[in-house]
Amino acid sequence: MNATIAHLHDRLAQALVAAFGREWSGTDPMLVPASNPKFGDYQSNVALSLAKHLGQPPRAVAEAVVQHLDVADLCEPPTVAGPGFINLTLKPEYLAAQLQQIQTDERLGIAPVKQPQRVIVDFSSPNIAKEMHVGHLRSTIIGDSIARVLEFLGHDVLRLNHVGDWGTQFGMLITYLREAYPEALVTANALALGDLTTFYKQAKQRFDEDEAFREASRLEVVELQSGNEDTLRAWNLLCEQSRIAFQEIYDLLDIRITERGESFYNPLLPGVVEDLEKAGLLVEDQGAKCVFLEGYTNKDGEPLPLIVQKSDGGYNYATTDLAAVRYRIQQDHAERIIYVTDAGQANHFAQVWQVARRAGWIPDGVELVHVPFGVVQGEDGKKFKTRSGDTVRLRDLLDEAVARARADLETRLQDEGRQETDEFIAHVAQVVGISAVKYADLSQNRTSNYIFSYDKMLSLQGNTAPYLLYAYVRVQGISRKGGIDFQQLGAEVPIQLQEETELTLAKHLLLFDEVLSAVAADLLPNRLCQYLFELSQKFNQFYDRCPILQAEEPQRTSRLVLADLTARTLKQGLSLLGIAVLERM
Ligand code: ARG
Repeated sequence: MNATIAHLHDRLAQALVAAFGREWSGTDPMLVPASNPKFGDYQSNVALSLAKHLGQPPRAVAEAVVQHLDVADLCEPPTVAGPGFINLTLKPEYLAAQLQQIQTDERLGIAPVKQPQRVIVDFSSPNIAKEMHVGHLRSTIIGDSIARVLEFLGHDVLRLNHVGDWGTQFGMLITYLREAYPEALVTANALALGDLTTFYKQAKQRFDEDEAFREASRLEVVELQSGNEDTLRAWNLLCEQSRIAFQEIYDLLDIRITERGESFYNPLLPGVVEDLEKAGLLVEDQGAKCVFLEGYTNKDGEPLPLIVQKSDGGYNYATTDLAAVRYRIQQDHAERIIYVTDAGQANHFAQVWQVARRAGWIPDGVELVHVPFGVVQGEDGKKFKTRSGDTVRLRDLLDEAVARARADLETRLQDEGRQETDEFIAHVAQVVGISAVKYADLSQNRTSNYIFSYDKMLSLQGNTAPYLLYAYVRVQGISRKGGIDFQQLGAEVPIQLQEETELTLAKHLLLFDEVLSAVAADLLPNRLCQYLFELSQKFNQFYDRCPILQAEEPQRTSRLVLADLTARTLKQGLSLLGIAVLERM
């Protein structure tokens, strides 16, 4: 809880006791942000609910609370409004003192949590030999941001890439590799598959057309499972090749992640099935081993099985996730496991967790969370595809964003008659292009679908990365113009909040810690985006209204501090979204 809210909360609780007696201690003062800033900053609705219990009119209750409420150090005199709301408006001097405190703190007043958790964020997780698609891009961007926020708050975060690097498709892929690129198996580094999607498609085509090929593929799966050296080498080559392609994307996006793919859990799968057997959960159904799920039925109303071992002895995606959740709790000691995938996998996780729970693998206090997200759509509202109907290669998508950012920048430079070096142009285009893609994704409530539009995400207007980056650049511009070193701004100069826009900006700056706690709780990075967007807007209004460099002292320094705090909050907030700032753009 934010310090201000904590104070107000306590004072209201004390007033309730003072007004109505001891038996009311522990009553929730029902403190919420004011519904309308005109009425103040916070309001307490406690009088409305207490009135019934006390048998008094709500307004009278509110007035009695206010009479006993001692908040003179924090607020203007409290007022009672409407049916009995208690309105609280923070005092400028109080806000100034709060700002002064965060100004001298590198972490902007955000203390690490008192009880750090061991958290696993399972994100990105593409599949070997297949191109990463836009869904993996969403998982990568959202998962990274969640991990960054939790890390900043002091949690111990393990970022895991649950790569799809195992399973029956490898029989097909390896058989095709032997046929189409046999030299890759003998000469080191000879594997230049080029486009992995094409390779996958060709293999699939052979598999669909040719019975002998299918049979060879089946045998190859068995070889892989039993650890045949030659097959494992082929498998490794395929994984290596994909890894190079994935890493390119991670480098472009500045993503840190540890690979621990499905194959890692392969040796643990027989033990998983054994444990389920021992727990009495396993049922044989037409040769397959399964667990019948509670609360799930098929369309005929019969109980739905979760297959954990197929009739041919093979394991599947669910078995692997069962092994993974057990390992993450027992070996990694995770207390919170966050899975970032498209919403389509919600049932998969719910089912796996149900089985894991019934097997007794999930201790009390361990939290399993699915962080689902919607689909990326083209401007036509359909699933995002290239013009020819293929999945968009992420590399191409990111390159296109950078190219467009560059074209926009060059036009703007020309309009403004500015000369910049090639290096500057390349750097700005890179940062703006990548940030725009990330921000467009993160600023949406992740549970909904969103329409991918280069034009919108690159616009300097609206809730976009360029708009936020520009607010930051503005502050740096002030420092250059005035020859100001923000770090040297005296902490001894009192902050003065007189103008409406100064007050509004100050209050918003002080909400940063609330927003981060909210993101850590509900794992919705769009809340942070919205906060930073509003911060930029409020800063711009302040900047338009209040002269800074031209102002007289001590106002000048006070305003410089506000500008600096805005820039630092923007920089910190953007970095938690995985976005770097620019000094000029
Ligand atoms: N590889 C999967 C996919 O591409 C995502 C894996 C998500 N993580 C997990 N533990 N199942 O859909």
